[in-house]
Amino acid sequence: MYYIGIDLGTSAVKLLLVDGEGAIRNEVTKEYPLSFPQPGWAEQEPGDWWRACTEGLGELLRGFDASAVAGIGCGGQMHGLVALDRNDRVIRPAILWNDGRTGEEVEYLNGVIGREKLSALTANIAFAGFTAPKLLWLRKHEPENFERIEKIMLPKDYINFMLTGVHCCDYSDASGMLLLDVQHKCWSREMLELCGVTEKQMPKLFESYEVVGTLKPDVASSLGLSEAVRVVAGAGDNAAAAVGTGVVGEGGCNLSLGTSGTLFISSKRFRVDPNNALHAFAHADGGYHLMGCMLSAASCNKWFCEQILHTADYSGEQEPITEEKLGRNRVFFLPYLMGERSPINDVNARGCFVGMTMDTSRADLTQAVLEGVAFAIRDSLEVARSLGLSIPRSKLCGGGAKSPLWRRILANVLGIPLDMVKTEQGPGYGGAMLAMVGCGRFETVQQAVDALVELSDTTEPEPELTARYEARYQSFHKLYPSLKSFFQEAN
Ligand code: XUL
Repeated sequence: MYYIGIDLGTSAVKLLLVDGEGAIRNEVTKEYPLSFPQPGWAEQEPGDWWRACTEGLGELLRGFDASAVAGIGCGGQMHGLVALDRNDRVIRPAILWNDGRTGEEVEYLNGVIGREKLSALTANIAFAGFTAPKLLWLRKHEPENFERIEKIMLPKDYINFMLTGVHCCDYSDASGMLLLDVQHKCWSREMLELCGVTEKQMPKLFESYEVVGTLKPDVASSLGLSEAVRVVAGAGDNAAAAVGTGVVGEGGCNLSLGTSGTLFISSKRFRVDPNNALHAFAHADGGYHLMGCMLSAASCNKWFCEQILHTADYSGEQEPITEEKLGRNRVFFLPYLMGERSPINDVNARGCFVGMTMDTSRADLTQAVLEGVAFAIRDSLEVARSLGLSIPRSKLCGGGAKSPLWRRILANVLGIPLDMVKTEQGPGYGGAMLAMVGCGRFETVQQAVDALVELSDTTEPEPELTARYEARYQSFHKLYPSLKSFFQEAN
């Protein structure tokens, strides 16, 4: 039997064909456009996702026995608002997780409705990328579109809807809408009312590993798949990635260095950060997790290399960053290219280089970018530590984790060992594992993890380098507070 894992990312969809023993038999990536209609805004066309998925699935299955595919599971970029009209047509481009247009709505929710109330209802406060502030924004700025909404869903739910015709969502992804009572795993009536929507417009809720339906006949025949293929609810990409790296149950940690950078701490029981700096969400294994999310992580390096240096040779740019330079860079980079979510929650924050002198080199700037991202992840780790959580080590995944230099910088900035797993395709592999559970190949997500996830490599922190980076981090940590009011005035 085969299982298909889909990672519906921000720059591309990655599709995996996995066999019953967990081996990856084929892999296809299809890119799609991302538009920034105004500074700090980010949108995508759901039709582009679907086209990329169907084309990619065709390629993925070429040369394989498609009738042996048993299940499909999707991990998707979170929080994006996808709205369909009464004919199931997409009303407007999806407003994505890293879109910062909802500053006013966030202020209203956190200030007027109040953080305490939001936290009591949803276990979270408002952040610009979350779905509820986007609904408020749409109601105010595009009332004609808002009125036409028949179905609200998240990005991967659009794919599941196109595959099965079922309007569904899983608890991990639904947690990021600020509309779910995370602890009790049901829609919050009060939050829905506040955003002017009804439960009828919301997707039906499932655990990530539960089967939501089977393929629609026309979809099955166009993909050459059986109508019996089961589609599971899937998960938000971070929860799916955590499944893929084996971070389930109590107290595991996964770091993802993708377009976003996330710190994900799994937990069996429901728990809230009293200051709501970390998100309190449901996990794809049936439990819960705490998460810090920075909006621009590997995307900072991509931006710097491709847009500024005009090169795609990332490792070439890192070559001159030699041993003696580590922990001694006098240039700092604030990685807030899309504003920032965790832990500072500031849509006005911006990226900047600080500390340059006439001898600053191209390599120093590249190094500052890698370090700035690591320092910003450390900010979230410090919040977790301040809650008394012990994080002695972490798994690491995402495109940025492929750089040995970045892994080393991160391990030393955080001061903990970072473990890579053999199958590093986090969300896609997690999606396939959830499909395996839905199809009965494993009874629980934990069992799938025990059978399939293996460590490949560990990057250990080095005491002397960790000490050097500690001093740099303490300086970095002062930068944002000293620029905060400037960012506010300048925007
Ligand atoms: C998590 C978040 C991002 C996206 C990236 O809260 O917004 O990690 O899910 O795809």
